[in-house]
Order: sequence, then C-alpha cells, then structure tokens
Amino acid sequence: MKIGIIGATGAVGRQMIDCLDEQAIPVEELRLFASSRSVGRTMKFKQKDVAIEAVSQDRLNGLDAVFGAVSAELAKEYRPLIQKAGALFIDNSSAFRAEEDVPLVIPEINGADAFAHHGVIANPNCSTIVALMAAAPIANISPIEKMIVSTYQAVSGAGIPGLRELHDQIHSIEEGKPVETEAFPAQIAYNCIPFIGSEGTDGYTSEEAKMQNEGRKILHLPELRVTCTCVRVPVFRSHSVSVSLQCKEPVSIEAAEQALRLYPGIRYMKEGYPMPLDTSDQDLVYVGRLREDKVFDGGLALFACGDQIRKGAASNAVQILRVLLSKE
Ligand code: A2P
Repeated sequence: MKIGIIGATGAVGRQMIDCLDEQAIPVEELRLFASSRSVGRTMKFKQKDVAIEAVSQDRLNGLDAVFGAVSAELAKEYRPLIQKAGALFIDNSSAFRAEEDVPLVIPEINGADAFAHHGVIANPNCSTIVALMAAAPIANISPIEKMIVSTYQAVSGAGIPGLRELHDQIHSIEEGKPVETEAFPAQIAYNCIPFIGSEGTDGYTSEEAKMQNEGRKILHLPELRVTCTCVRVPVFRSHSVSVSLQCKEPVSIEAAEQALRLYPGIRYMKEGYPMPLDTSDQDLVYVGRLREDKVFDGGLALFACGDQIRKGAASNAVQILRVLLSKE
C-alpha cells in the first residue's frame, strides 16, 4: 500500500510511523508530510530515511490511505485534496467525528462501522478511547445509561508543545527563572488545570462534550448521558479516567470482572491499580479499582489508564486500517 501521514513530525504522527511497522501494515511507499518548516528533514521508517514533504495535490495523488495527525482546521483544509486523490482519510482530529456518514471507530468496540465509510474515517478523542475501552465490556452486559467521568490528562495530549512546556517549566522553577505559559491556559508544572479545549454555552468545555457525543456514536447508545470534567495534570504521557456508570440492569462486580478480563485490548487489574507511568508506550488500556458505585444503584465505579498517543490516537488509527485490510 502507498500511505501518507500528514503531521508526521508531531507527537501522534511520529507514533503512527512506528505503529505501521508494529502492526505489519504492508507499506510499499510511505510519504511523510508536515509544515514547510520541516521540509528538508528526514525521519526513519524501517531503518530507512524518508524525506518530509509539504502537502500538495501532486504528492497526495497515488496514495491509498492518508493518516491525519494535524489540527481540525488543517484536516478540513486537506480533506478535499485527499479525497480528490482517491485515498482513504483516517483522521485523528475532531473535524469530522460528528458527521453522520463518517464512521467513528474504536476497532475493539465498533470495528465493523469502519466498512461503512465514504472516504473518511474519524479516530475518536483520546480520553474517550481510554474511557470507552473500559466501559464497553460492561455495556455489552447491559447498555450503559449514565456515566460520570473525570479525566486526568497528560500534557502530550497537547502535542510536542505540551511536552516541552511541562519540561521547561519544571526546569525554570528549579533554576528560579520566570515560568512561561503558552500551550496551556495556566502553569502546568506542579499544578492541575480543570479546563481543556474551548468553553461551551452550557458550562462544559469542548473536550468534555466529546465524551458524551462520541460515546453515543461509538457505543450505538443514542440516549447515553454523560457528565464529564476534563483536567490537565503534570504527567508526560498516558491519560487516566475515573468512571462511575449505571447500566439499564444492575451489573455485578463478578460479571464486570469477567467481561473486562476477556475483552481484547484491556489489562484488568484485580491487584494494584492503573497508573500512567506503567501504561505508557504500550497499547493496552489498564482497568482497575472496580467497585460498586455508591450513588448509582446497581452501578459500578472504576479507574482506567492508557497511553493516549498510542491507543488514544496513533495505534487506534492504524488499527482501523488493519481492520479494513483484514477483510480484503
Ligand atoms: P511541523 O513539525 O513542521 O510544525 P504537534 O501537535 O505534536 O505539535 O504536531 C503538529 C503536526 O502538524 C506537526 O507534524 C506539524 O509539522 C504539522 N503541521 C503544522 N502545520 C502544518 C501544515 N500547514 N501542513 C502540514 N502539517 C502541518
């Protein structure tokens, strides 16, 4: 296959390059795209140097699939070019997730939806992926009606600028220098910021709205109600989520444990608990702290943690292509 990655130099794009190799996608040619600032640089794929190029119709032509790892604005700008090239666009941004004819896919949960695409498939939000991977096995026992989610999101969710900002702020504080803030709305070093995305009219942020809207589409539960609070924490990699949920019928701890143990892509922890340092740089979502919820009758509470650059973004996107190829 001839594959392109737009945003190849970013946190997610770089990871996509590795995931193509790890998931044994048959890549005949790889074209890497970034901003004009990066043109002239090279990146390694299977020990070979690949030149970074600027996006152009000419260089998109001939590709079978293009992965998007850029902002929603750029994804919208490049979509017509990718579609004109006749390539499948698997996009990691939020640009097309709500569109009716764009499948929104977590392969373990709704992989079959990918086949209904019309040229574009969207990769869900990173916290949504971590939370739904933990919730889906329970939803299979009885449909989830309500969920309360709090997220603890790593700085790499904001890309390389987010990683750099936490690193630089820690060093500035150690050296007694002034702290500079750019990627986040407040100092993130030694702090928590309960605001991610943009402000909505109902008091929730755009990031918080994604958990409900994307959850409904992926789980095929149009009535699902979600209250979500998204918090940025000074962790480099791996998002964590605390979830309380109530299903249509009560679900026992034993039934949930068994479902979680058997579900692909999950590591269920009966002993110990999931933590970002343990879940980084691998594809499993760890789920633990499973207990009865004290507010939702017959409901459950749990904690989950997963690498949001991998399963929350790059690995999930490449897995979508893997699913499509498996049926060819
Ligand atoms: P570049 O490295 O040249 O700026 P992150 O969110 O991790 O910072 O990644 C953003 C990605 O989007 C980078 O690969 C960045 O490339 C890329 N990018 C930024 N602007 C453009 C553009 N106009 N066209 C294509 N890619 C872009």
